[in-house]
Formats: sequence, C-alpha cells, structure tokens
Amino acid sequence: MRTTRTRTTAHGATGGPRAPLARTGAVGGLAVCTATVVLALVPPATAEPADPGRPRYSAGSDGTGDPYFPLAGNGGYDVQHYDLDLTYIPPAAAPAPLEGRLEGTATIELVTTQGLDRFNLDLRGLTATSVEVDGKPARFTQEGTNELVVTPRPKLEDGDEAEVVVTYGGTTRRPTDVSGALYGWVTTRDGAMVANEADGAATWFPVNDHPTDKATFSFDVTVPEGLVAVANGLLADRTTVDGWTTWSWDAPDLMAPYLATATIGNFQLRASAAGDVPVIDALDRDLPAAGRTTSEGTLGLTPDMMTFFEGIYGPYPFVAYGSIVDDDTVGYALETQTRSLFSRVASESTAAHELAHSWVGNAVSPERWADIWLNEGWAAYSEQLWTEHRNGATTEQRFDALMARPASDPFWDVVIADPGPVDMFAEAVYDRGAGTLHALRLKIGDGAFYELADEWVARHDDGTASTADFEALAEEVSGQDLESFFTVWLHTAGRPTSW
Ligand code: ARG
Ligand code: ZN
Repeated sequence: MRTTRTRTTAHGATGGPRAPLARTGAVGGLAVCTATVVLALVPPATAEPADPGRPRYSAGSDGTGDPYFPLAGNGGYDVQHYDLDLTYIPPAAAPAPLEGRLEGTATIELVTTQGLDRFNLDLRGLTATSVEVDGKPARFTQEGTNELVVTPRPKLEDGDEAEVVVTYGGTTRRPTDVSGALYGWVTTRDGAMVANEADGAATWFPVNDHPTDKATFSFDVTVPEGLVAVANGLLADRTTVDGWTTWSWDAPDLMAPYLATATIGNFQLRASAAGDVPVIDALDRDLPAAGRTTSEGTLGLTPDMMTFFEGIYGPYPFVAYGSIVDDDTVGYALETQTRSLFSRVASESTAAHELAHSWVGNAVSPERWADIWLNEGWAAYSEQLWTEHRNGATTEQRFDALMARPASDPFWDVVIADPGPVDMFAEAVYDRGAGTLHALRLKIGDGAFYELADEWVARHDDGTASTADFEALAEEVSGQDLESFFTVWLHTAGRPTSW
C-alpha cells in the first residue's frame, strides 16, 4: 500500500496541486508515518513472493475483517480511483412509488496486494451487466446480497495495476441500514439524497466499501435537464444535450467510499470562498422559507467556522467545501467529503459538527467501525467548542450537564469504544465521546490537549486510525499514563465516577 500512495499515475493528472501525489511529496515526513501504520496492517499472507507454501494466485477475501460489517470491503487489492458515469431517472410524479432508475459505468483503477484469480467488489440491489478487466471481458457472478465476484483472465499478479470496468443498473428505492435509518442511494420525489455511512456506498456503485481503502473519485452524472447533481470536490463541467444534463465533478482528495455523494434535486448552486478554499453550496429551491432563511444564515458562517477549526486541527485538508441542503430528509446530516449534506435545514451547531468532521472523520477516518467515537466524539466536542466561541453554553456547562445524567440512565450502558453496529450512532457515542475529550483536556491540560488535536490530524491525514492509536498519542503528547482514564471512559459501561 505504501507504493500505491506514491506511485499513483492514473488520477495524478486529474488532481490539482492538492492531489495525493503532490501532497505526499509536500509532506514527505508524514507520508512515512502513514506508511508505517498501514504496513503494520498488511496480513502476513501478502508478504514474501518467494514463500514456497504460498500459491501464486488466490481469491481475494470477501471482507476486510471488520466485525461490524463482515462483507463491507474486500481483500487483495487497493483502489486508487473510481470514475463513476451515472445516468439517473427520478421517480415519475406521485402517486407512483418512490423508485428511480440508475444506469452506471464504474471504472475502477486498482493495484493488487496479492496474486488474484478472483476478487470481489461490493454491490447491492443493482445488477451488473458486464465486467472488463484491463479491456478483457471477465466472468462474474453476484453472490448473496452484497458481493460481485469477478474472475479476471489473465489472472492478476501481485502488485499489478488493473482497470476494472463494471456496467450495472437497476431500480433505486430507499435502503435502510442495520439500525433502520435511511442510507445509501435514497430515492426522493425529485431525485436522490445520497448518504452512505457506514456501508451504503454499495447501493449505488461497485466498491471496496471500507474506510481503510481510500481513493480519489470523479463523477459524470446525467439527469433530466433542470435537475442538478451535486457530488464531492469541484465542478469540472456541465453539458446539456437533448434534454439531459451531465454534471461532472472531480474529487482529487483521497476519500473513504462512505463519504461519497451524488445528490440530485432541484438545487441552486452558489459559489463563494472560505479564505482560499472554494465553497460550492447547493440549496434546494423547494425549501420552505424558514428552512431557507436559517440555512442561508448558517452557510454564511462557513468562513468563520473554517478559521476556527483550522486553529484547532490545522489547515483545511481538501480542495473545496460546501453544503447541500435538500428539502427531503434521511433523518440526519452527514459529513459527505467536501460537501456536507443536510436534511431540510442546516442549523448552526450541526453545520459546525459536519465541518469539523472534515478533519476528524474524513482526513482521519476510523480504522474499524468500532472506532466511530473518534469521529462523533471529536465532532460533537468541536460543535461544543464552536458554541462556546459564539458565547453560547460553555464546554464546562455541557460536561456538567452530561455528568448530571442519572447513573441509572441507559445512556451510560453504551461502551463507546465498541458500541456495536446498531448503536454506532447512539447518543452516547456523541455525548460521552465529547465528555471523554473534555475530561481528557482537564486531565492533561490545554497545551497537551490542543497539541493532541493538531498532531492527531497531521499524523493520520489521508488515512485511518484506531482508538489504540489515539490512546498512544495522548500518552505521548502528555507524558502521562492514561490507561485507567481510557479504561473508565472508553471501555467500560456505566457513568464514570473517578478517573
Ligand atoms: N455521521 C453523521 C453525523 O455527523 C451521522 C450519520 C448517522 N447515520 C445513520 N445511519 N444513522 O452525525
Ligand atoms: Zn457526526
């Protein structure tokens, strides 16, 4: 994986000055740190080509070994770039069912990490109609509900670069996750609201759907003229032919698949800037007046919020930012990379939360989904810091309110460093997560705490990190033994009493 980060050619040319290739060169010291972390995760089976007991080719695994989502992601390769060419027909007018029609061609540039006679992509609820590997038709089957199994011929050597082209399509509906929340390609009255966390990317493209395989993305989304498709990154082009408009977006920053979007609706696009970061907001023209006014006010704060969080976490890590405010709802907001997604309204605190995820969640992503508190605890605490900065409730008041919850409250039952897949977005993951960070700040002092925030992002930027990594860094920057602190706050149910 180290070589693929520095040897990327397929998408290097499309990236701007902040493309991974350029960035890796610019932060050589960090690249070494990242590579060290990543290499430690490579299973021993991928080690020595000369190993006599090891067959030259084998099947890539159907998962990445994440206990929460065993079939999310796959083994045997590392995706470099996804180029998604989509055509979408939204539902017919009511009372027809909320069903859309999606046709796609996904061109996936990957590098193998073992010799492969077979490998999987994740694809759910859509039908693949052809697969080519390096220009040659490949046999494929769809197994279970989530796995597209590809048999490349010739077989792929360890370390090969390969281009996989999948054509696919089908009817889109309104998928739900393990907790029953809408996610993935959520068909709406006038388009789709696309929010993949945690394992919903497979509902709209063939994917190695795990944060440990980040890649760059480009999108060409064709929709009936009049509708607007909003994806990640920068708007590269817009062309209308015969009543169809193709919206082309280029997202040259490494991105975990759960952060991709291609949200479609009756949007007004607005370009502005936050310092030197281009901002593209998309406001639904169908928003009720109150939601529009609130959201416009919130979006006007983006430059100030960005400056505030840069002061905590370091430079904004991506080529662009912006917000999508849809008139429909998935029931929550999501930190879709470079383009946060809001249901019906963007409140100030939620907007601060989603922007903060750019650093904590998006630049640094969870190593395993059990590590989700690292995303939500940091984002919730960031939201509190912003509120305090705006002369609202202080972080101390919020901490006191947290600790005033009765010890018998089921809130305290969630072990936030391992909440389980159904409780990944439980209130405790957010609020106890924020409380953990506040208690840590009191314990190690502001100097060490803010050094930790900054170093956390600097060290793991463009990669993933675990709770163990976090605990180790907190001990490193503070010089304190924090084992019992973290045992109490992260790994034990119940309201903390001493730490
Ligand atoms: N990460 C989102 C946030 O910023 C929440 C996602 C909730 N997802 C879900 N499937 N319930 O808080
Ligand atoms: Zn969040």
